This record gives sequence, C-alpha cells and structure tokens, in this order.
Amino acid sequence: NNNDIRTINHLRHVDSMATMPSGAGKIPRLNAVILGEALATEENDLVFPTDEFSQQAHVPSPQKYLEMYKRSIEDPAGFWSEIASQFYWKQKWDDSVYSENLDVSKGRVNIEWFKGGITNICYNCLDKNVEAGLGDKIALYWEGNDTGFDDSLTYSQLLHKVCQLANYLKDMGVQKGDAVVIYLPMLLELPITMLACARIGAVHSVVFAGFSAESLSQRIIDCKPKVVITCNAVKRGPKIIHLKDIVDAALVESAKTGVPIDTCLVYENQLAMKRDITKWQDGRDIWWQDVIPKYPTECAVEWVDAEDPLFLLYTSGSTGKPKGVLHTTGGYMVYTATTFKYAFDYKPSDVYWCTADCGWITGHSYVTYGPLLNGASCIVFEGAPNYPDSGRCWDIVDKYKVTIFYTAPTLVRSLMRDGDEYVTRYSRKSLRILGSVGEPINPSAWRWFYNVVGDSRCPISDTWWQTETGGFMITPLPGAWPQKPGSATFPFFGVKPVIVDEKGVEIEGECSGYLCVKGSWPGAFRTLYGDYERYETTYFKPFTGYYFTGDGCSRDKDGYHWLTGRVDDVINVSGHRIGTAEVESALVSHPKCAEAAVVGIEHEVKGQAIYAFVTLVEGEPYSEELRKSLILSVRKQIGAFAAPERIHWAPGLPKTRSGKIMRRILRKIASGQLDELGDTSTLADPNVVEQLISLSNC
Ligand code: WTA
Repeated sequence: NNNDIRTINHLRHVDSMATMPSGAGKIPRLNAVILGEALATEENDLVFPTDEFSQQAHVPSPQKYLEMYKRSIEDPAGFWSEIASQFYWKQKWDDSVYSENLDVSKGRVNIEWFKGGITNICYNCLDKNVEAGLGDKIALYWEGNDTGFDDSLTYSQLLHKVCQLANYLKDMGVQKGDAVVIYLPMLLELPITMLACARIGAVHSVVFAGFSAESLSQRIIDCKPKVVITCNAVKRGPKIIHLKDIVDAALVESAKTGVPIDTCLVYENQLAMKRDITKWQDGRDIWWQDVIPKYPTECAVEWVDAEDPLFLLYTSGSTGKPKGVLHTTGGYMVYTATTFKYAFDYKPSDVYWCTADCGWITGHSYVTYGPLLNGASCIVFEGAPNYPDSGRCWDIVDKYKVTIFYTAPTLVRSLMRDGDEYVTRYSRKSLRILGSVGEPINPSAWRWFYNVVGDSRCPISDTWWQTETGGFMITPLPGAWPQKPGSATFPFFGVKPVIVDEKGVEIEGECSGYLCVKGSWPGAFRTLYGDYERYETTYFKPFTGYYFTGDGCSRDKDGYHWLTGRVDDVINVSGHRIGTAEVESALVSHPKCAEAAVVGIEHEVKGQAIYAFVTLVEGEPYSEELRKSLILSVRKQIGAFAAPERIHWAPGLPKTRSGKIMRRILRKIASGQLDELGDTSTLADPNVVEQLISLSNC
C-alpha cells in the first residue's frame, strides 16, 4: 500500500533523529515504532504529503524540519540573524539579536529583537521588490463583492499609490509615532493605507469594519489618532452598509470624551454608493479621490528602529475593555515573512488568497505584510464567500488560478453544509496548499476540506497562532510531516511550546493542560498599549517564566499538538474572539437588564455561539420584543458578529456565597448537560438552578 511505502521513506529520515536539545519543549518525537503504531489505528490515521509535493518543498522531510528546528532553538541568534539579513536594513542591529525577560519576578517583562537595526517594513514590501525586478508583477488582485468587478495593482503601481497617501498624511501633520485609525472594508485602499502609515513611521490601528460606532469610538479614544480613514459605504452580499454614518457617530462620541478628530479621509466607494448622499462635515471630512491623486508618487521612507511600533490592533480579553496589542517593526517583519514562506511553502509562481479581513490579525500578517514581503501575488476579496452563491470561493480560485487558499474552519463547515456540488462544479486544479486558522478545525471538516476542496492532493496548514503572537506558532510544514486531521502538529522554528498543569509545572509526553510558550520569538507583541500592567498580569503572571496563551492543548503520543480552545472567558465565534465581559456589559447597559452572564456553547457552523443568561429588572415581564432589543443592544455596542444566539431568562444567577457567578453551572445548563451540573450545594441559593432549568425552553 502506498501509505506504507511513504511511511518507510519517512521512517528512514526519522530513524536517524538524534535526541532533541533539552529545553526545547516537547519536540516532535516521532520514531519508527510510534509511527508504525500510529498508522494502525483509526484515530491516528496519518495523511502524508505526496512524494511529488515533498520533493519540491522548502522543507521536504521531518528530518530537515528537525535539523532546522534544532538549530533555531540551540542558536536562535544565529538562526534569526541569517534570515533577517535577507531584508533591507539601513543600519544593522546591535550585536545582540534579541534580549528577553519573561519572568515578572525578575523585573519588567521585556522583549526586544534586532534592537538598533534601522529599517522600514513598507520599503521591504515594495521598494525592495521593485528594485529586484518585480515592479510589473501583480502585488494585489482585487475581487469585488459583485462578480465581474475587479482590479489589480503591480508592485510599482502599489508603491506609487502608497507614496501618494503617505505624502498626504505627512501634509496633514502625521509624524513618526502618531496613530492613524483605519475603518475600511476590503478595498485595495486598506492595505495601501496600512503600508502608507508604515512608510512614514505612523502607527496604524485597523478597526474591523463590522464593529459598531461605540466600539470604534472606544478604540479612537484609546489611541487618539491624528487622522481617521474610512469610505462612504460598502456592499456586503446584497446589502449596503453606510460606514461613514458609523464613523460620524463614533467621532461625535470621541469628541465628547475629549478626543476630537480634525481629519477624516473618506474614500468614495462608487460601486456601493455615490458621494452625493453622504453626510458631510466640512472642514473635517475630505474625499480621498479629491486630494490623493494630486500628490507625488514618490515619498522618502522614514527609517525606524526595529523596536519602533508598527501597529496597534485591539482584541478581546476577559475584561470589558479591549486590549491594544502592540507590534513593533523588525521582529514582526522577519517573523511574518518567514512563517508565510515555510507554512505555505511559498514559491514565486504562487497566487495566494487569504479570505481574512485586514481588520483582524490574519489580514495584517497574511494578507498584507507576510505575502508582500515575499513578493507574492495576493488576492483582496471584498465580498462574502457565499455570495452570490456558495460556489463563489471556487469561482475565484479558478479565475485567478489560486494556488494557496487560506481560510477559517467556520467557512469550511458552512460550505460543507451547502453540499459538494458547489465545489465540484469548479476545476480547482491550480490549488496546491490549503490553510486553516482561527479555531480548532474538527476532523470531519478537515477531511471535507482535504478530500473535496483539495481533491485529496493538497496538504492543509492548520496554523495555530494569536493576535499577540504576530505569526504562526504551531503549524504543519506541508511537505515535511504526515498530518493528523484536526492537529496543528508541531512548533514553527524558534517556538518552544510547553504544556503546564494548574500549578505551572511543565508536563512531559502525552498530556493535556495549559498552553504556554517558553522564551520569545521575533513576532511576539511587546506590550498592551497604555496598559503595561495588564500585559504582565494577563500573559506573564499566570505561569511564572512563560507566556500564557489562554488556550488549552493536548499532546499525543507522537508529539502532535491538539488545540482544545480557550480556557479563559473568551468565546471564539466563527474565529472571532469575543470577551464574555464585553457582551455582558453591553447587555447590562440595556435599561431593562439587571444582570447578565454569558457563556459559549458549541455551534455546528460557528464553532461556538454566545448564550446569554439575563436577569431583568424587578417586575419586568419577559417578551419577544425585549429579547430582540437586548440582542440589538449588543449589535450596537460591539457589532453584529457578537449578537447572542440565545437569551435565557434568569430570575437569578447561580452564585457562590461570596457572590461569584458559577459559570461552570451555566455552561452545563446552556448545553443541556443537566446530569453533569456537579455540586450545587455551595451556591448561595441552590433553588436558582431549578428555576433556570424550568425556563430553558422559554
Ligand atoms: C484560536 C487568530 C485552534 C485560539 C490568528 C487562539 C486556533 C485564538 C487556531 C486567537 C488553530 C487560532 N487551531 N485554535 N489553528 N488559530 N485559534 O487573536 O483559541 O483572533 O487563542 O488570532 O484563536 O485568536 P486571534
């Protein structure tokens, strides 16, 4: 059998594997016996890359991976400085490639990479590629919401557009270190704006254009941008969304809080709406098309230190206030480019499509920076993946001959539900690699993705990482490892994942526990903007000496990693992180809500969905209308993607005598596991549980 032959080939590589360096974390410890056994059992059925694929891959075998991984762990400075040397540095970094202290008890947590090195990421994305002869290569393809509308920019054209905007921003007084908030949909202007900021050393903060006015204003108030950039409207599927109205409302709010915005640059998205019906504030609002084309297409680069900030991206945590994750320039640049190259086995002939929006970290690292740093041709898709029908993705794959397709499990599951016919009607023969991100991919979705979308031919890179990590942390290297459906497999170069128990003790071998990372890696975030203390408390205090990811993880007997989801109060809905506290505070702000508790429940397509227990103010009757208005309150304060799936009326919430809500019990009630409620005798009022159960179907 074919699989056996491949196994033997792999075994030859693996057999020669020496013991791994100590302190390297739980390193792949595949060996002949284990691999042989693994093949025999159903739950471990390994999926091998084809020989043809492996032979052409950057990392063609487990042995090669291990060699490189070992080097990256034993000599991180040497490993990363060799890679970093391939970028353009105006001035090389100081001798020490990195320095780190992750142990709070030993003073301030501090991570620095390539400190003293002077560079610019926009220069490395654009000028460097143009100089290398890629000027006429397509950098970005744009595919509109409606079929038949598209556009593209070569590397030279993109550079010109970026320079024009950069010149304008400088004219508006934006200087190195100033923040710029970007509230744009997936138009070419979104990556253009990110790059223009980077070019002049400004710090961009992209706010996903599905966030509400309140969320947007909260972020504006936190980072106090010099300029806000948006567009008048966008079409999403058949609907038109008036983004400028949302921005107007946010700016009223921020001005009230003492953060007035003097400049709001508005792109006229003519395919969605003409400019004449846009509400306008003279003096503050400016049409992009009226000013930007007049600026010169060249703009000198602002050279920055590797440790100067590149961007801020807000993400949810376990308290109500979103965290401003801060990434710096040099390490992030080196890390996103390198992870992109290896995890997707990138080759210059590839056409790459990542379906993520630039409003999330995936769009930062793997729509904009990672691909452009590699000189890739990358697709920016404005629309919805099931519009006009569920075949849209494969239509786009065939149209552009996409070779690498990177998406989220929630999309895979929803397309899987719509049936194979939407997929098989398209050729998809250009595809060679598939990718998954955002949440654990369940084995059945993995198999459908592999067998139906990829015709059992394309390896899947299931990339585990976070806003905070900047780039991939645990990911298959598609030519190297046999895969197990649902496992993110092994750490990327330089990453030392460890699994710890409740006390923070590292556990070896086959185990489950909390996922932490030992040491730093170049793409790590450096702080939470304006809240260094929260940075330490959230990430470095839970387990001394480690970065705590907030995720649970198990490691199987072959050393493969299986992510099991968040272990903190964060819910992952369709790959979007939502803090339970944020949703609770939105609910409680409703005048008729006295108290709320939110938990996550399993959802067939979204992975998890939001389930809210709501206690109304005294005497208020339950009604369908009230349910709707509570949900609306969340949509308005956070965004539609955070709307609760269910509102469960709760006369009271289960609390301990000290007043702490027992979410464990709520989770069981929400998922209908009533025989697993556990001990309820410690509750202040045990009757609450009975009442809640009796209201389950209301
Ligand atoms: C989850 C998205 C399992 C995880 C890049 C993490 C995943 C959170 C995976 C970060 C994956 C992301 N397998 N879980 N391949 N990728 N996650 O910051 O819980 O939006 O902590 O970054 O998503 O979400 P974030």
